[in-house]
Amino acid sequence: MVKPRILIVDDELSIRDSLAEIISLDGYEVLTSYSAEKALDVIQKNQIDIILLDMVLPGMGGLDLLKLLKGKAHPSEIIMITAYSTIETAVLAIKSGAYDYLIKPCNNEEVKLLIKRIAENNALKRENQILREQLSNLAGLSGIVSKSKPMEQVFHLMQVAAPTMATVLICGETGTGKEMVARALHQLSPRCDKPFIKIDCASLPADVLESELFGHEKGAFTSAINKRQGRVEMADSGTLFLDEISSLPLELQGKILRLLQEKELERVGSNETIKVDIRILAATNVNLQKSVEQGTFRIDLYYRLNVFNITLPPLRDRKEDIPLLINYFIEKANQENHKNVKGVSPEGLRLILNYNWPGNIRELKNYVERAVLLEPEDFIGPANLPGVLAAPQENSAGGDFRKKIMSYEKELIINTLKKCDGKKTEAAGLLGLSPRIFSYYLSKYKINKK
Ligand SMILES: Nc1ncnc2c1ncn2[C@@H]1O[C@H](COP(=O)(O)OP(=O)(O)OP(=O)(O)O)[C@@H](O)[C@H]1O
Ligand SMILES: [Mg+2]
Repeated sequence: MVKPRILIVDDELSIRDSLAEIISLDGYEVLTSYSAEKALDVIQKNQIDIILLDMVLPGMGGLDLLKLLKGKAHPSEIIMITAYSTIETAVLAIKSGAYDYLIKPCNNEEVKLLIKRIAENNALKRENQILREQLSNLAGLSGIVSKSKPMEQVFHLMQVAAPTMATVLICGETGTGKEMVARALHQLSPRCDKPFIKIDCASLPADVLESELFGHEKGAFTSAINKRQGRVEMADSGTLFLDEISSLPLELQGKILRLLQEKELERVGSNETIKVDIRILAATNVNLQKSVEQGTFRIDLYYRLNVFNITLPPLRDRKEDIPLLINYFIEKANQENHKNVKGVSPEGLRLILNYNWPGNIRELKNYVERAVLLEPEDFIGPANLPGVLAAPQENSAGGDFRKKIMSYEKELIINTLKKCDGKKTEAAGLLGLSPRIFSYYLSKYKINKK
């Protein structure tokens, strides 16, 4: 931890000296000045982290110096020293941005404690800043656009997992960026210049998938005319990405488990054991734990895969990313199609922010690309966006609920009216409504007595 540099501003020599002594005993570097004017000079020439500032000084007062520095957003923390133990002055100083205040004669332990606390806070702030910078570098490197809190956690986990050999299970709804994360983990790993091999477990039937994964010997099955290397072998020394892992057929799950545990495989139709050096990443958009419960996924494989879990939040839970993503996709679409769309109009943005994005970022990307191609004026507006955005959202406040209530209301009025042979007063009485309110409902739902 870097020790802060401290400036003591007090016109009384004895106070300056005694404070300087106890503070420097704790290993801090201490500077002193006898007036606010002198202090300004020192602050301009040195980086000062903490200022102990006397309230009453000849010339410019302590409170004025405090206001001056805080007005310029000077980063130092200021502790006021006051001989007047009135709450008002202290409160005024704190309101103006002072960190705390001390009452003369200062208690040594109190001074030390206060400085220690500020020093620790500063160190924490610095660490956070460094972390944030690293995270934004990571975001830049991986091409993953985001500045939202939920994604900060994802970036943090990526940073931890990337340099290791740990198997990572990437979870998240469709289109949330699982493949992007997998590629980034590879790119940020020591294996970045080795192959990244992806296999989609959902796209092939079991037997084809097996030979695609593990390869086969010549003649292993009728169409195996030549010996063939599988994807696992291709990924040797690099990364193997098993996409849609929940679709992995049960009969292959044991083989993948063995691959994870022993880093061993046999080609289809061969007894020869092949050793590989691979790192495995997997992705799923279904809850694997549920698949385990339903008996479609082996529990031992689930535990092996889920050593390190990264779950991507759906777009609806990080809407603060939407404007950023829109601009990013517009920029890309502009470049690819030689367009010059400048952004999205406020009405367009309102529709976009209201929508709940079941297809997540992929869906947003598609709509933006489409909108750019539709040649909007300068800004993408509602006319350039698909109709689904304007439709009432199932989970948007009230929409669906209101509709259901209204249709029930209408039905109730009609049925009661029928029951009373169209006699309005009778029907109103049956429902406990006044005739006037009942007539209101009739006209609201355009109900004809017949
Ligand atoms: N944070 C992001 N910044 C920029 N582009 C993103 C981001 N997240 C996703 N994308 C883009 O959205 C699309 C979908 O991402 P990706 O294929 O990684 O999602 P997925 O989770 O694997 O989806 P699926 O479950 O459907 O396979 C890609 O075109 C990707 O480039
Ligand atoms: Mg994917």
